[in-house]
Amino acid sequence: MMQALSTQTVVAVIGAGAMGAGIAQVAAAAGHMVKVHDTRPDAAAQAIVGIRAQFEKMAAKGKLTVEAAQAAGARLHAAEHVADLADAGLVVEAIVESLSVKQKLFTDLEAVVSARCILASNTSSISITAIGAALKNPQRLAGLHFFNPAPLMALVEVVSGLATAPEVAHTLFATAAAWGKTPVHAKSTPGFIVNRVARPYYAEALRVLTEGGADCATLDACCREAGGFRMGPFELMDMIGHDVNFAVTNSVWRAFFNDPRFSPSLIQQDLVDAGFLGKKTGRGFYNYQEGANKALPSTAPTQPAPSGIVIYGQTTAAQALTARLQANSTDFTPAAAMGDTLATAGGVTLRVTDGRTATRCAFDMQTPNVVLIDLALDYHKATRLAVAAASQCAPTAAHAAIGLLQAAGFAVSVLQDVPGLILMRTVAMLANEAADAVNQGVCDAPAVDTAMRLGVNYPCGPLAWADAIGLEKISAVLSNLAHTYGEDRYRTSPLIQHHVFAAKNFL
Ligand code: NAI
Repeated sequence: MMQALSTQTVVAVIGAGAMGAGIAQVAAAAGHMVKVHDTRPDAAAQAIVGIRAQFEKMAAKGKLTVEAAQAAGARLHAAEHVADLADAGLVVEAIVESLSVKQKLFTDLEAVVSARCILASNTSSISITAIGAALKNPQRLAGLHFFNPAPLMALVEVVSGLATAPEVAHTLFATAAAWGKTPVHAKSTPGFIVNRVARPYYAEALRVLTEGGADCATLDACCREAGGFRMGPFELMDMIGHDVNFAVTNSVWRAFFNDPRFSPSLIQQDLVDAGFLGKKTGRGFYNYQEGANKALPSTAPTQPAPSGIVIYGQTTAAQALTARLQANSTDFTPAAAMGDTLATAGGVTLRVTDGRTATRCAFDMQTPNVVLIDLALDYHKATRLAVAAASQCAPTAAHAAIGLLQAAGFAVSVLQDVPGLILMRTVAMLANEAADAVNQGVCDAPAVDTAMRLGVNYPCGPLAWADAIGLEKISAVLSNLAHTYGEDRYRTSPLIQHHVFAAKNFL
């Protein structure tokens, strides 16, 4: 285990924008003298004023003593020139996202700092290997990728390029940990961990929207209320800004030589073309103008609870349905497992989606009245559930399915019959991407789950989630999606296939 840099080490932060100011705050709070440099006149001084105000606020809230806040504030200094950074033991660069500008800065720095100084870039999307190519000593360069806002977000990706010395990555890892962060190691590959593995959260929702599965508000509500995500994909894209989110998607897609896994969406391209960039422009998927109506999720009207409910087997969904019906005093009969059937009532068969459409399931099962339910993070706690009925399903049978779920306390959103509904396909694709990142040596399995929980606040790491669902199920969902679409996009990661055949979990 490598040691963290001591607090005697002077840290230089270059770029006093949103990220640089946050990183300078973190380093000063951790006890380092921090020199802030920016080419914009006064930017560094202004950032320091802002950081000191943050420290004062924290003191006022009792999170820091007044003395500690003052001492941390006093450790920040503006540096007018790169030449003033000669005594730095660590430089963190957070300037404009341009390879040539970053290369120029780092080569200038090499002429100023000591041979032992570690150089780090906060880049989100530029290859550390490529930045390092311009340096005399690329071994000392690594990525130190914070998340916005840096003082609040725990995750730091420590990114190694081809030339990065392992000791440098390990020292940065230990230093980030000493700063109160949760670091993960990543190999420099497009999107590193988070910006790569998160792509399907947007991409699958955009697909379902494109295919008319449901409206944005309904899909967002399902992701929040059944998936446990803090924000649905559409409200999240609106918040990030479509210009930014679309640019990240495009950059990852291009960097992977147009791999269809990452292909961008025409719907989002349209929003960008229209200038509907999200919250910041007053319109994105939603309308944020004053007086605009808040879009509500569509929720099925109340149906009576059907008689003759039978719950099959002991799957987590069956157990939760059992507990919820009991809690609501609804009569049902437990029965032994019967294939993938979750419940029957009023002539309808309910199953959890396996990536086939309900219509195809009905055909495969040679029974018309099939209703599929979506994944939930926890079927005990979910307040909403998405369902889809086969096109052959009689309306009375669909109503029985809805009534059953409502009797169990779910708000029900009826989607068009898209394959894999919304959550199951999203989680399967998140796990697939996470598995490929691990399989390709970008990071290890615990790191990818930590990164997604802390970098984008997922309720559960995608690999742990896949383990909980069962890798055989995830594999079936992906194969069925691949079969439906005939696209390479849904190819199953070799690591998932390996674990299915080895019959063991990821973690
Ligand atoms: P920003 O635009 O808020 O700040 C950039 C600052 O760098 C500006 O103050 C600018 O004057 C200064 N600058 C530009 N060229 C310079 C140079 N050659 N020397 C010194 N200062 C220079 O940008 P932001 O958002 O803080 O991003 C900075 C870096 O952090 C980028 O590489 C970005 O990809 C990365 N990043 C951004 C995140 C975000 O959410 N905004 C998250 C994680 C990483």
